[in-house]
Amino acid sequence: ERTGISGEGNAESRAAGHRLKSEAYFREKDLWGFIHRSFTKSIGYTGEDLRKPVIGICNTFSELNKCHSHFNELADYVKRGVWQAGGVPMEFPTISIGEPYVKPTTMLLRNLMAMDTEEMMKGHPIDGVVLLGGCDKTVPAQLMAAASVNLPAIVLTGGPMLNGRLGGRSLGACTDCYGFTLEHKAGNLTDEELAVAEDAICRSDGHCMVMGTASTMASIAEALGMALPGCAAIPAPDSRRRHLSERTGKQIVELVRRDIRPRDIMTAEAVENAITVTMASGGSTNAIIHLVAISQRLGRKLPLETFDAISRRTPFILNLRPSGKYQMEEYFEAGGVPALMKELGPLLHGGCLTVTGKTVTENLVQAATLDREVIRSMAEPLESQGGIAVLRGNLAPDGALIKQTAVSAHLKQHTGRAVVFESPADLLLRIDDPELEVDEHSVLVLKNAGPKGAPAMPEIGQIPIPQKLLVRGIRDMVRISDARISGTSYGALIVHAAPEAAVGGTLALVRDGDEIELDIAARKLVLKVPDGELARRRAVWKAPDPHYDRGYGLLFHERVLQANLGCDFDFLLPAELRRELLDGA
Ligand code: FES
Ligand code: MG
Repeated sequence: ERTGISGEGNAESRAAGHRLKSEAYFREKDLWGFIHRSFTKSIGYTGEDLRKPVIGICNTFSELNKCHSHFNELADYVKRGVWQAGGVPMEFPTISIGEPYVKPTTMLLRNLMAMDTEEMMKGHPIDGVVLLGGCDKTVPAQLMAAASVNLPAIVLTGGPMLNGRLGGRSLGACTDCYGFTLEHKAGNLTDEELAVAEDAICRSDGHCMVMGTASTMASIAEALGMALPGCAAIPAPDSRRRHLSERTGKQIVELVRRDIRPRDIMTAEAVENAITVTMASGGSTNAIIHLVAISQRLGRKLPLETFDAISRRTPFILNLRPSGKYQMEEYFEAGGVPALMKELGPLLHGGCLTVTGKTVTENLVQAATLDREVIRSMAEPLESQGGIAVLRGNLAPDGALIKQTAVSAHLKQHTGRAVVFESPADLLLRIDDPELEVDEHSVLVLKNAGPKGAPAMPEIGQIPIPQKLLVRGIRDMVRISDARISGTSYGALIVHAAPEAAVGGTLALVRDGDEIELDIAARKLVLKVPDGELARRRAVWKAPDPHYDRGYGLLFHERVLQANLGCDFDFLLPAELRRELLDGA
C-alpha cells in the first residue's frame, strides 16, 4: 500500500505532505509517481495539467436512463468551466438508474449507486467532484456518497423536460401517463391517438417535469446548498442550463481551493432547510427516506417527527402538479427554488454555507418571485401546512406516513374493518374480484411490500379502489401498506409502515375483519386487537422466504434498514451511529 492516498480525501494526503489528493499521485518522483504521470499523459493530459487540481466529473449518461440522455453535453460544459478556473477535469462513469426500466424497482439499486459513487470518489486521484444526476434515485445516491466521502462536491442535476404539449394542453410526465392509457383502455382513444400522445408528452431531454421525486430531489440538492442556486428548475434543453454547467465547473475548482466540503455544507440546519423547501413545494414522500439516509451518512439521526414538525409550520406555496396546477417550466420562469426560498425567508436558516462559498441569505439577495400564480406568498398559501403527517400507534410503532392534503375530508378520522392482501401478487389477484367482501368503510391492508418484503419497497402503496366500489362512485378509501408511493399519488394512503410485515411488524399480524383506527389530527394509527391476541398471532407468524438466494439481491435483503431509517445498508452508516441505532434494536 502506498502512503498518502486514501479514501478520506485530502486529510491523509496532507499528512503525507500534500495539500491535495492528486498531488500524492502526480508529484512524487518515485515509481508510482512515474507510472501515474506516464499513464495519464498517454490519454492527452500534459505534465502541466497534472500540476492542477483534478476534478472528477461523475457522468451518469446512459441510453438506459432517458433522464440522463444529454449528460455528455452537460459534462462538456462542466469541463470548460474546470479548465477556465485552472483545474483539470477527468470524467468517469458510475451505474445510472432510470425509473421506467429497472426491475423490480430502482430502489433496489439506490444503495448500489451510492456505493459505486463512493468508491469511485475514494479510489481515484480526484480533489473534487461534480455529480451529474437527475432521475429519482440518482441524486440521493450521489448525496449519500458525497456525505460519506466528504470530498468537495457539487451536484449538477440534468433539469426537467419541457412541458408536454398536445392540442393546447400542457402535459406532465408521468401524471398524465395514467389518463391516456385509461382512456385508451376505455375505448376513447385509438392506437394512433395514443401514439400521438406518447410523442407529445415527453418531447425533450430531462427528467419528469412535475414535482415528483426527481424534481423534489433536485430542489433538495439546491436547498441543502449542494447545487448552484437556480439549478433545479432550468429546463434540460435550455441554454441557461449549459451556462450553469460551466459555472458549476468553475465553482468546484474554487471549492477545492478553499477546501469547502459536503459536511461543511450539509449541516443539521441545512437539512432542515431542505425539509422546509420540500414541504412548501408539495414534494414527494420518497424524499423523506432519502433525507434520512443522507443525514445518517453525515452521522446524524433524523427522526420522522422532525418532518412532521416542519410540515406543521411550513405553508404549501408552490402551485405545481401533482398537488397544484403548473410544472417545472413555469416554476423556472417564476424564479425557481431561489424565489421559493426567498418567500420562505423566516422559516429557513439563512446562515448555512453553500457551494457558492456564500450563505443561503447571501445567495438570495437577487432572488424574486416573477409569477404569483406559481409561487404564492406565505400570506396567501395554497394550504397553511405542508402535506406530510407522521402516524404512530401499535400498527406502525416506528412510524408511517400519510400525505394528508391528498386525503378526502371524511376519511381524516376513520375506523373500519381490515380487508387484507398478503402480498402485491395477492392484491393483483383479488382486488377486482366481485366476491371480495369489502365496502367503502373497509380499510385495505397490503402486506409484504416493504424494503425486504416486495423486495425493495416498490411504489405500489396506491392500492387501487376495488372495481365494484369504483362503479358505485367510491373514489377514496383508507389504505395501508409498507410500500412507497409515487409523487403523483392521491388518496388516503398510509405508507412506509415500519417495521414492515416481512420482518414481523404488527402489519404482518392484521387479519380480515380487524378494526383499524386512523386519526390524522392525533397522528394515530391503531390496530384494535388486544395485546394477548396479537402475541398469539405473533407466535405462529413465519417470515416469508427472501426473494434472492445469491448476489446483490441477497446482500440487499440481509442488510437493508427499515423505511424510518432511510433504507440504507446497515454497514454504510458511520460506525458510531450504527451502534447507537442498531444495538439492542
Ligand atoms: Fe426519470 Fe421520471 S423517469 S424522473
Ligand atoms: Mg417517480
